[in-house]
Amino acid sequence: MTTLAGLPATPLPPFVTYQDQQLMVEGVSLAALAREHGTPLFVYSRAAMLQALAAYQRGLAGRRHLICYAMKANSSLAILQALVAAGCGLDIVSGGELERALAVGVDPAKVIFSGVGKTRAEMRQALSVGIGCFNVESRAELDVLDEVARGMGLRAPVSIRVNPNVDAQTHPYISTGLKGNKFGIAHEDVLSTYQHAAACVGLRVVGIDCHIGSQITQTGPYLDAMDRVLDLVEQIETAGVPIEHIDFGGGLGIDYQGDNPPEADVLWRALLQRLDARGFGDRQICIEPGRSLVGNAGVCLTEVLYLKPGEQKNFLIVDAAMNDLPRPAMYQAFHRIVPVAPRASEDTPTWDVVGPVCESGDWIGRDRALAVQAGDLLAVLSAGAYCMSMASNYNTRGRAAEVLVDGAHAHLIRARESLADQTRLERLL
Ligand code: LLP
Repeated sequence: MTTLAGLPATPLPPFVTYQDQQLMVEGVSLAALAREHGTPLFVYSRAAMLQALAAYQRGLAGRRHLICYAMKANSSLAILQALVAAGCGLDIVSGGELERALAVGVDPAKVIFSGVGKTRAEMRQALSVGIGCFNVESRAELDVLDEVARGMGLRAPVSIRVNPNVDAQTHPYISTGLKGNKFGIAHEDVLSTYQHAAACVGLRVVGIDCHIGSQITQTGPYLDAMDRVLDLVEQIETAGVPIEHIDFGGGLGIDYQGDNPPEADVLWRALLQRLDARGFGDRQICIEPGRSLVGNAGVCLTEVLYLKPGEQKNFLIVDAAMNDLPRPAMYQAFHRIVPVAPRASEDTPTWDVVGPVCESGDWIGRDRALAVQAGDLLAVLSAGAYCMSMASNYNTRGRAAEVLVDGAHAHLIRARESLADQTRLERLL
């Protein structure tokens, strides 16, 4: 379907527009970027990231708060740099992510270390630079952290991740707050775990935390999780263990396919009202948003290689694949796909947009109406989160290049991976 002006009727993310029938990110032509850097190519808008962050900052204004960007969504250094410069702390899940955090000069006190499987080496590394908090996910991890910190003559700041047992109503692979998940400590064991932590010489209890899932598009699950967590804070403090900060995790969704999540400031108005009503409005609030800060700030440009019309299906074979855009193959995820320079056409066939990887699971979009020819460029939208950070070298495909647009300027923030980069650590017999 097209508009009167001959443009696709597909809604576009912020800072992505058609100007003179050419798709732009901010003031930069995507066709020009593809010519200069090749495809597949990720292009991000700095303004879109900062606009998404500003909604959280407005929502939490006037409160003691820390917004720790969950860098697993997109850990490219220049992305981290832009968000840290705008005031973010960082939520990390590995020693590698800690190195990235340090490389962009974040204050280590603004780093939160999440994840179920921290190694002793990662704990030592994080303790030695003085990170703000370890979000601990099991009693066994708590004991190891206590031992490691004591060995270094330090006290590790800890928050215990509780599993609030609420249904985030999202894809099962990205739902994390239900009893059957591997994450967090079960509600009924939380109090005794805090009492244990408070008695450990190598630990200093600073907070409580939860994360119920990702791509959450409703306010209800957040309010339910907040109530469950505040019930626990009451119990824990009554038992004599003070809780300085409350971390509500990440998870706010974005519009991929007509999804309609609340704006971050609207969500936080509702949450703060509940927090105040329950008498916890004075606590420091931490959050760990990932997708909602970067997801709609990125597109992936890809070139149409071949048209392969068939009896049952028409295939559009493009040069991006499941190694660049793993979300459709992994979660049956939907990403909008639009032409960079739309063609006027009476007849718009329907295509399955697929990559060159030798797997039937290598699809990027199904049944898409597109008027295209070989050599045309397509933009896969909402590709800023969990695409580049999950990219692989499957089929010995080098990972794509990345560009960050800032107004009329385009900065190459990651060069295309070469074959030499890929085989650097390999040896012949
Ligand atoms: N905090 C913790 C402890 C997390 O596990 C996650 C994401 C976040 C924060 C950030 O959540 P966000 O605000 O981005 O929803 N690869 C999947 C998403 C996996 C999310 C894992 N945890 C996808 O592409 O949909």
